[in-house]
Amino acid sequence: MRHSSQLTHILHVVGARPNFMKVAPVLRALGSRPGVKQILVHTGQHYDANMSDVFFRQLGIPAPDVNLAVGAGSHAWQTAEIMTCFEPVVRQREPDVVVVYGDVNSTVAAALVCAKLNVPVAHVEAGLRSFDRTMPEEINRLVTDQLSDLLLTPSLDGNRNLAREGISPEKVVFVGNVMIDTLVRLLPLAVRTARGKLPQRYSVLTLHRPSNVDDPEMLRSILQTLSEFAGEMDILFPVHPRTRQRLDEFGMNRICQGRLRLMDPLPYLEFLGLQQGATCVITDSGGIQEETTFLGVPCLTMRENTERPVTVTCGTNTLVGRNMDMLATEIARILAGRGKIGVKPELWDGRASARIADCLLERYARVSVGLPITANGQHLLAAVETAQ
Ligand code: UD1
Repeated sequence: MRHSSQLTHILHVVGARPNFMKVAPVLRALGSRPGVKQILVHTGQHYDANMSDVFFRQLGIPAPDVNLAVGAGSHAWQTAEIMTCFEPVVRQREPDVVVVYGDVNSTVAAALVCAKLNVPVAHVEAGLRSFDRTMPEEINRLVTDQLSDLLLTPSLDGNRNLAREGISPEKVVFVGNVMIDTLVRLLPLAVRTARGKLPQRYSVLTLHRPSNVDDPEMLRSILQTLSEFAGEMDILFPVHPRTRQRLDEFGMNRICQGRLRLMDPLPYLEFLGLQQGATCVITDSGGIQEETTFLGVPCLTMRENTERPVTVTCGTNTLVGRNMDMLATEIARILAGRGKIGVKPELWDGRASARIADCLLERYARVSVGLPITANGQHLLAAVETAQ
């Protein structure tokens, strides 16, 4: 038993696959601090076992305390449903701060609820901007940042964007990229998991943005351009549920045959192992642009813009937009051994979650209660709550 002067109640909200690798290290970092009580809420935006449960298992995330089980729908419906289901949870749990992650619909929905209830919001991965408001994620980022009380940025471009939008600098802290904490921790295991199971030379493809997969001509052009390289390498394509629906709907499964191999979405470790050994990754994801930069693997991004510009300026990322000639030229360059070589951006060092824990406790720790607590603070908190 020892004495602590601080008790802090932190509620985390996640909902979609890219949130899980960000919350995992923050939960761990805060879990090792005394006087912290944590609650995890899963909105259920992603609900398939291979989009959610397997990530919880592999990343060592405890089962959510609350699952809102919202599921899929239009943007307005999904956002509204999350808000309706989340509001009573915040009222009942009375957290000192709610932590939201990234830029998915669950992020903005939770931030809106908290702002209306006057509960402070901390946004992990704040400040990123693609300057493209046709992307739903850009709207989610802009709104979430305006509503947040603490903005934790992964790169300094984020600080500059927030300053330009009039956000007070005291609210903004550059902590580095927390998703890289998970990568650093699990890379050795991912490499061991992949050993002996991968083809000699291969690229990885992921596509799920509406601008690429909801447009049949675009989707067909990408797949046809890539199949031209199937003589030189395997192309492994783990398919997001949205993309799977479109391939079926457009009757395009036939293009994906031979060495262009469709697969179900992969768990975290298997996908990280795949990226690490790849000659090249072709994607429209946000997080994969970052992971490839850290791993030093050339990445070709099928988007006109990126909210993660350091992956282009420092890292291994090249934007190819909708230009199939450029896609073919860049792949040929990589296959010839002349792919882009990058460096790791500042504070992508595996310790962002410790910095996030410091900031949260500095700002939201409750005042002294002068009671003895156990090392992790959980038991006394439970006792205090039971007694009330
Ligand atoms: C969401 C995020 C996107 C992120 C992506 C990662 C938003 C606005 N978008 O996009 O930023 O890059 O997650 O995966 O929040 N579906 C299933 N099973 C699931 C989840 C989805 O079948 O577990 C299907 C549903 O038919 C759904 C569609 O996929 O309509 C799209 O899912 P949704 O959560 O709306 O957006 P994502 O495209 O996954």
